[in-house]
Amino acid sequence: MSYRVRLLPSGKEFTTEINETVLEAALRSGIALNYNCNNGTCGGCGGRILSGQVRETQQHDFHFADTQKAQGHVLLCVNAAQSDLEIEVKEAGGIEDIPLQLIPTKVEQMERIQNDTMILHLRTPRSQTLRFLAGQHLSLAIAGMPPRNKSIGSCPCNAMHLQFHIRRVPGDQFSEYIFTHLKISQTVTIEGPWGNFSLDESSKRPIIFVAYETGFAPIKSIIEHAIAMELEQPMHLYWMAHQPGNHYLNNLCRSWLDALDNFSYTALTGDGLSGVSSWEASPDPEIGLKDMEAVGAAIVADQPDLSGFDIYITAPESSTEGMLELLYRHGLPKGQLHLDVMRRF
Ligand code: FES
Repeated sequence: MSYRVRLLPSGKEFTTEINETVLEAALRSGIALNYNCNNGTCGGCGGRILSGQVRETQQHDFHFADTQKAQGHVLLCVNAAQSDLEIEVKEAGGIEDIPLQLIPTKVEQMERIQNDTMILHLRTPRSQTLRFLAGQHLSLAIAGMPPRNKSIGSCPCNAMHLQFHIRRVPGDQFSEYIFTHLKISQTVTIEGPWGNFSLDESSKRPIIFVAYETGFAPIKSIIEHAIAMELEQPMHLYWMAHQPGNHYLNNLCRSWLDALDNFSYTALTGDGLSGVSSWEASPDPEIGLKDMEAVGAAIVADQPDLSGFDIYITAPESSTEGMLELLYRHGLPKGQLHLDVMRRF
């Protein structure tokens, strides 16, 4: 059995199943409610029931004063719906509402998806799930090495299981360690989230996503978040890889294509003339520049007028000049461009 929940003042709605808390259902639906401990200790997930009934799912340490209880205040992390609900609650409005967090995680899975590409899965403690916005990045500290910034490649709707896309780069201590020494259950301390590359949820404009190589990770996070939120506007993904075969989650993109009426996908490959296997492994800045110009050309061939689009791009540092010039010439307003710059390591 499921119930409908309406949040005020935003008016956002979602469905909750009988065996999940209101907080779990909201997060699964892509709604960024405030919370911290997720076990009834901190009081950070408080909301006020305006109509409907809830039941407590577990005992907890934090308690509201009697007057607040009489007004309908409850903890959304330890209450499940018993009817349709209307709840007055504070939602995270943007990056400024997400606190900086330091969390010891464990390696849950190392998915060697290609010879030189790994999807690293980290698991947070149940009582310390990560609050972040889709598209943001974290600092990862492993085994005494200098911390490395990596974009999160998974959806905030699954905040206990975090994903990172790692390309093995010869000579790079961090990626070499992950490919040769990292073990299941090893501790990786994450700090963050950082960055303002995230979905503009107030916009109803059609969206173009552009990913380059493993820059697909934050784009994937945003697309999964958009799917969880059931966004209705058209979304088109252009994924550029320098060499054929580097679209390491091509099947996932094709499954979105099959399942979603509002999603389309173009896989692009660079000229490959340099002979290097990926942009990350190459010292030549011209590679990213040429590849991104080719993406720009593909976009304007499909959409000559970009004035009504939002565009989200992850691209190598110093590679976007030619492409952006082209997009602006085709009417893209600067305020509708969201750019996340990839660093080589
Ligand atoms: S998140 Fe801490 S009490 Fe609910």
